[in-house]
Amino acid sequence: MLVHKSVNDKNVNKMNVVMVHGGVETSCAPHYIKALRESALAGYNALGRGLVDAAEEAVMILEDCPLFNAGYGSVLNMDGEVEMDASVMDGGTGKFGAVAAIGCVAHPVSVARKVLEDTPHVLLAGAGATKFARSKGFPQINCVAPGMLEAWQRATDKMSRGILPNASLFTGLPEENGIAACDTVGCVVAHNGQTAAASSTGGSFLKLPGRVGDTPLIGGGIFASGRCAVVCTGLGEAFMETLTAAYVDSLLARGIHPQEAAEKAIERLNEKRGAPGGILVADSQNRYGAAHNTRSFPVAVVLGGSLAEDFSPRKIAVSDRR
Ligand code: GLY
Repeated sequence: MLVHKSVNDKNVNKMNVVMVHGGVETSCAPHYIKALRESALAGYNALGRGLVDAAEEAVMILEDCPLFNAGYGSVLNMDGEVEMDASVMDGGTGKFGAVAAIGCVAHPVSVARKVLEDTPHVLLAGAGATKFARSKGFPQINCVAPGMLEAWQRATDKMSRGILPNASLFTGLPEENGIAACDTVGCVVAHNGQTAAASSTGGSFLKLPGRVGDTPLIGGGIFASGRCAVVCTGLGEAFMETLTAAYVDSLLARGIHPQEAAEKAIERLNEKRGAPGGILVADSQNRYGAAHNTRSFPVAVVLGGSLAEDFSPRKIAVSDRR
């Protein structure tokens, strides 16, 4: 069944929503789109277990895929190591769980889920987060994908010769067809008047060891409430300083439609920071929206189990104002 844009009209959509992105600057090549669709459909298929399960499942698929900057496929930091951030939030309960700068696990999003469910805390970081993952039975794995190691070697070789690496901020990869994939992955889910969100990232290429971005910071790069679920991708520092995910929720509290809220939040990010970004929003009435200010931001949407073939996020022009 082909689902048309009209289902996103105010108060019309009765179907549940699973919406997935692979990060700003993600290529629209068929293999990227296929992976995003598989992730969104996997999320939908997990919905019977719960909304957080659906969001987690969708993100796990992308963490396993070396095309994306999360899990296996994460960028390397300045020391040539992978340090990942991830989080989950249950809009129904307001419960949040996150890990920051975690190493050597396949699914940081699932460790974040364990933080939510099995600890009195909301965020574990660094060696403590990795140790917690082991205590919960997550095996030690090598997250360094060969392509990411080569990107790091090329860039650090150039830097040692005093040349600035001409590579993607997010992955260190040279551009292919004008696109240099990609940033954080994320998923929002709306079903039966409830919402959930999950997000995961390797962060930014050549970051300082210990650097944490917006992905595990509630209200910065992720939020979920009784109203809506929000995930963000782009320059983490800008999302943290502007509390963009919480801002989107505040717009919905004023009665603004998720599509308009995503656009307003990107316009605000342009004005305040001039930073690259993309946002997904789904609300408790199963309405949804997405916007970005980058060259490419493919999104997969599953409505009531069927792919919404003709949805594309709105691109907002980058303002000259900073
Ligand atoms: N948006 C991911 C990061 O900056 O870490």
